[in-house]
Amino acid sequence: MELRHLRYFVAVADEKNFTRAAERLHIAQPPLSRQIQQLEEELGVELIEKGTRPVKLTEAGAFFHAHAQELLAKAAELKTMTQRVGKIERTLSIGFVASTLYGLLPRIVRSYRAQHPEVEVTFHELTTMQQIKALKDGVIDVGFGRVKSEDPNIRRIVLREERLVMALPVAHPRAASSDPLSLVDLQSETLLVYPKTPRPSFADQVLSVLSERAIVPLKIIEVRELQIAIGLVAAGQGVAIVPESVQGMRRDDVVFRALTDRHAVSPVMFSVRKLDRTEELQKMLAVIYDVYDAAGISYIRETL
Ligand code: BEZ
Repeated sequence: MELRHLRYFVAVADEKNFTRAAERLHIAQPPLSRQIQQLEEELGVELIEKGTRPVKLTEAGAFFHAHAQELLAKAAELKTMTQRVGKIERTLSIGFVASTLYGLLPRIVRSYRAQHPEVEVTFHELTTMQQIKALKDGVIDVGFGRVKSEDPNIRRIVLREERLVMALPVAHPRAASSDPLSLVDLQSETLLVYPKTPRPSFADQVLSVLSERAIVPLKIIEVRELQIAIGLVAAGQGVAIVPESVQGMRRDDVVFRALTDRHAVSPVMFSVRKLDRTEELQKMLAVIYDVYDAAGISYIRETL
């Protein structure tokens, strides 16, 4: 059985008609019918009920149709992913969540560019879930995100666990002291979380940190992105829990305060296509660890 057989069968099942399926495949109808017959002979089961118009699938046919569609989608994915790996020598396309841009990402990229000037680096701001799709579509080669989602085609390395901090309006009574704040304080606050979609997202990470501690904020407002959450904090609409690197944003109308809870953390993740061990990605990982060493950040070293 070859991919061609799957393509032919899926066209017949989708169109429910041999003539239309043949047109879609740009082949004549007799060879199409022969291929479907060969497929049924090889499998030893009927996939299409004899003499039905429009074409009706047997139970085995419906099963085969669903799995054939999945296999064809995987084959298409393999094609784009391989083409991207082949091109990676000259370009490195990076997907990142906004918070990393206020932290170490610029420093890491500057160092990478200085060491590997031959590589053209491009950027895409994407949520972690969008990064997974962009990796599979060949749009990016590496994603820096925060959500620990599982995907059989993606390899994920947790680079480090970053501490969370609270962002407050400058006029907030708790902003006056630089003492660390307790998450329990949120019980009397409106909490702004982001991004609203796609889920799961950093919003769910923050909400699960709170639910694990049985802390319920006075009110929760979901907003589209980090910049909006911080803008609304500045406007006095509420407070936000953000990774400490967001302090790099430097605004005079928002203050950031450490949390007393050392276990309130968010991971920084390095995601790549599974089995993609291109030199450029290995060099990127090495640069990240060098930056961590220079900044005195603790981490567990992994290899691609
Ligand atoms: C970090 O903050 O640890 C980080 C940010 C961007 C890329 C890699 C690491």
